[in-house]
Amino acid sequence: MENSQSRVTIHMAASLDGFVARKDGRVDWLETTDSFEGGDTMTPEFVEAFLETIDCYVMGSRTYETALRFEAKGSGWAYGDKPVFVLTSRKLPRTHDTVELCSGDLAQFVNERLRPTFRSIWFVGGGVVSGECLRLGLADEVRYSILPILIGDGIPFFEKLDRDVALHLAEVKAYKSGMVGLCYEVRGHRGEPRNAT
Ligand SMILES: NC(=O)c1ccc[n+]([C@@H]2O[C@H](COP(=O)([O-])OP(=O)(O)OC[C@H]3O[C@@H](n4cnc5c(N)ncnc54)[C@H](OP(=O)(O)O)[C@@H]3O)[C@@H](O)[C@H]2O)c1
Repeated sequence: MENSQSRVTIHMAASLDGFVARKDGRVDWLETTDSFEGGDTMTPEFVEAFLETIDCYVMGSRTYETALRFEAKGSGWAYGDKPVFVLTSRKLPRTHDTVELCSGDLAQFVNERLRPTFRSIWFVGGGVVSGECLRLGLADEVRYSILPILIGDGIPFFEKLDRDVALHLAEVKAYKSGMVGLCYEVRGHRGEPRNAT
């Protein structure tokens, strides 16, 4: 596959004040109870069909450790049988054959290993890895699911961005649960001028 056919997406759910987890890593606030009359419903069939379009997942080790804890508590494995690449310098346990532990140059890994093989590459957190992905100019789009809650403090969606990143709003969807899904395309990568309109 040509590199230009692949798409790198960063996706996370965040509080309205921009946090993906509490400072201690807890995500208990993801379960909200709002209701928005005019919103869309996310049916299990829709979610299943959407997840089918994702070819592989990339995540930081702390996100992976959270996923392992969820699984150990009986909440299941959210990534099905899709390949999951975990960025880490440590030797972490692997509970699925689909999980691969990776280290080294992230840009080289994405451009030379993932892009030629996978069409839809999803970075699913956390804040450190999302920040790194954007800083290196690797992301094509950012999907931000805003939940109807403020938590005041926590781990930010993007850790330590050292420059502005211009975006183009491509999609907005409001859901019955009070969640708003935003999809932004990243400008200024793959040779496009950063402030292009
Ligand atoms: N709300 C949501 O949708 C959502 C989504 C995802 C995660 N989360 C939450 O976010 C929290 C974790 O986020 P976080 O920002 O603290 O951590 P993170 O991004 O998940 O993981 C960061 C760790 O990954 C490893 N790493 C990062 N870049 C690397 C690279 N290029 N090469 C090798 N290793 C690399 C490093 O650890 P080592 O090398 O030491 O292993 C680093 O400390 C968890 O609480 C999780 O539940 C929430």
